Amino acid sequence: MADLLLGQVLSFSADPFEAGPEAARIDEAVLVEAGRIVATGSRDALTRAHPQAQVTDYGTSVISAGFVDAHVHYPQTAIIASWGKRLIDWLNSYTFPEEMRFADPAYAQAVANRYLDLTRAHGTTSVCSYATIHPASVDALMGAAQARGQRIWTGKTCMDRNAPEGLRDTAQSAHDDSAALLAKWHGVDRLSYVITPRFSPTSTPEQLEAMGALWATNPSCLMQTHLSEQTDEIAWVKDLFPDARDYLDTYERFGLLGKGGLYGHAIHLEPREKDRLREVDGSLIHCPTSNTFIGSGLFDMAGLKSAGHRVGLATDTGGGSSFSMLRTMAAAYEVSQLRGHALHPAQLWWLATQGSARSLHADHQIGNIAPGLEADLVVIDLASTPAIAQASARADTLWQALFPTIMMGDDRAVQAVWIGGKRAA
Ligand code: GUN
Ligand code: ZN
Repeated sequence: MADLLLGQVLSFSADPFEAGPEAARIDEAVLVEAGRIVATGSRDALTRAHPQAQVTDYGTSVISAGFVDAHVHYPQTAIIASWGKRLIDWLNSYTFPEEMRFADPAYAQAVANRYLDLTRAHGTTSVCSYATIHPASVDALMGAAQARGQRIWTGKTCMDRNAPEGLRDTAQSAHDDSAALLAKWHGVDRLSYVITPRFSPTSTPEQLEAMGALWATNPSCLMQTHLSEQTDEIAWVKDLFPDARDYLDTYERFGLLGKGGLYGHAIHLEPREKDRLREVDGSLIHCPTSNTFIGSGLFDMAGLKSAGHRVGLATDTGGGSSFSMLRTMAAAYEVSQLRGHALHPAQLWWLATQGSARSLHADHQIGNIAPGLEADLVVIDLASTPAIAQASARADTLWQALFPTIMMGDDRAVQAVWIGGKRAA
């Protein structure tokens, strides 16, 4: 049976960084059937053409593609908002001890479900997550997402040095365990495996080489890692890899630079790194709440987008301080303001939906409302709190009405979530 959803249906016909806010369009209705978007249009025309469809009227609420979070660590759910550290200290004090607990598959299962509950409540329908070193941590998130019909990406996080005992694998076991998980999950239902070397400081050259070889034999997989997040980290990478031209070269020389590569943070890039990332069309994933929370720096959104980089947006839970892509858009706005550029609400919304989907090479499946795409939707109440309601009441345009929700909204703004064409929250 088809569903007809009525509201302000927001979609994009182009990238608003290139085409301006006119890249967005508003329709009155969207028709969903068998898990996919069938049509958008006027409520009269679609109601007349599909008299059997079950109608849900969301009034003046915005119906958008569900949010796509392109870089998260689901195992860090419980340590979100941990006080007072910067990257390396934060990893050693909070992150690694918590990730150790995922040796227990029952704990991994419980956190995976809690994480997907929390993100769904915030309107996020797809995520690309790191797991932990433990293969069962991949099984936990894949299984939980499969049961909910969600499109997700995850992979076993590989580390064979500079991590505590119990959180280290080897070059060989990382390769073999990743290959086995890939064979088990990649392409099953809506699940994709991501080859996941954590970052250069926690992998030996041998492990990076093994990951590069695995990617070369499985080019349909994405590969995710971290790049140039903090200046101390970059100095450490230079010590660990004295022959490397720069941080990116520690990936490039081992076959870990390419289209389908997801480079989290990418803040302090050298000119050669930017040029190479642009040449190969690698994805840069901006994690603004993490960058301010851990004190990493200010991502150059305007410069990198105008140079033609592929950019996605992400929470980086739990280095990021929120599960909400609304809060993440607000932080992206603030970070960009500190660099002298006011991002338009259309650009922010595009980044949280189609831009992130594009960064995951999945924009033909998710991240927009268009016929044939999978029906993952979020319905946004434009007056979810008194503070937001009084600001949006003055709006003359949709963007003016939406911006207070972008800046001040949270899970209270999420009126409904549809996953794979079914009401999920
Ligand atoms: N660099 C390597 N691992 C991590 C992580 O878990 N979080 C963040 N923010 N940066 C990292
Ligand atoms: Zn991360």
